Amino acid sequence: MKMKISRREILGAGTVAGCAAIGGALLKGANVAAASPSAAAVPWTWKKMDPAEIQERAYQSAWEKIGCMYGACESILGTLADRYGAPYNTFPVDATVYGSGGIGGIGSVCGTVNASGLLFNLFVKNQNDLFALCSEMSLWYEKASLPVYRPKKPKVDIEIVRSVAGSNLCHISSTKWANASGYKVLTNEHFERCNRLVADAAAEIVRMLNEYDAGNMAFKQKLNDFSQQCLSCHGPGNTTANVASGMTCNPCHENPH
Ligand code: HEC
Ligand code: HEC
Repeated sequence: MKMKISRREILGAGTVAGCAAIGGALLKGANVAAASPSAAAVPWTWKKMDPAEIQERAYQSAWEKIGCMYGACESILGTLADRYGAPYNTFPVDATVYGSGGIGGIGSVCGTVNASGLLFNLFVKNQNDLFALCSEMSLWYEKASLPVYRPKKPKVDIEIVRSVAGSNLCHISSTKWANASGYKVLTNEHFERCNRLVADAAAEIVRMLNEYDAGNMAFKQKLNDFSQQCLSCHGPGNTTANVASGMTCNPCHENPH
């Protein structure tokens, strides 16, 4: 296998030249950084929009990269950029593709929940509000029966079964849906489900930002009774205080007591 060159060999052979090149790039980078203006500081001004109007774009963008986080971010920031230019068009939205499949396919936090945190962070005025909105969105995601959105131009034109994730984790959400629908994960049907869900989540993020910006955000979501009861002892400020989680507990825990 002559063609096979190991990573180690490449690194070994390239070390000296590589260091020089990286050193040069760093120096150059430092000069550029000193000369270029910094990005506009957050919070940016939120511009009200109709949640429904970005949904098809969210769905199509999500398909473009099989990127749930990307779809949500691209539809909202892209719409703002098209309408108002800077600073919205300065955000490198391609840098959100990593959120796909619960961060690079790992199956941890769903990219739509990840997207919501990033978007809230761009627009909300303080950290307390930011955390409250993140929690609201995560619980919405856990509890909602999704997907609801019906694409105007569906890539996979089938009825999509809805399911309740019960968790903000991609792994749990996807597996629950696979079991409810009978389709396997990482199929086109699964992606169709996820990308429709992106449209729902993007609309929810816009709805929340509209409400928040108008000063009438109503926080409605609560952890279920099971989880609240656990946190009454295990949560912060309580006797046991060893659990730092706002996720619903019961997908992973039964009551051990
Ligand atoms: C009345 C207070 C109280 C409530 C309510 C409570 N716990 Fe606990 N839990 C404790 C204490 C005290 C311990 C023992 C100390 C420790 O391991 O943290 C414990 C231990 C645990 C452990 C470790 C058990 C082990 O075998 O190592 C788990 C897991 C746990 N609780 C989960 C839960 C879950 C899930 C809920 C909600 C359904 C819950 N607890 C509700 C007080 C409580
Ligand atoms: C995604 C799965 C998951 C979720 C959601 C989750 N846990 Fe856990 N939890 C775990 C795992 C895994 C452990 C480690 C178990 C072990 O050490 O064997 C753990 C450990 C614990 C422990 C033992 C802590 C200790 O000091 O040993 C408690 C108590 C606990 N969880 C309570 C909760 C509560 C309350 C919630 C909800 C607010 C929650 N967990 C949500 C998976 C989860």
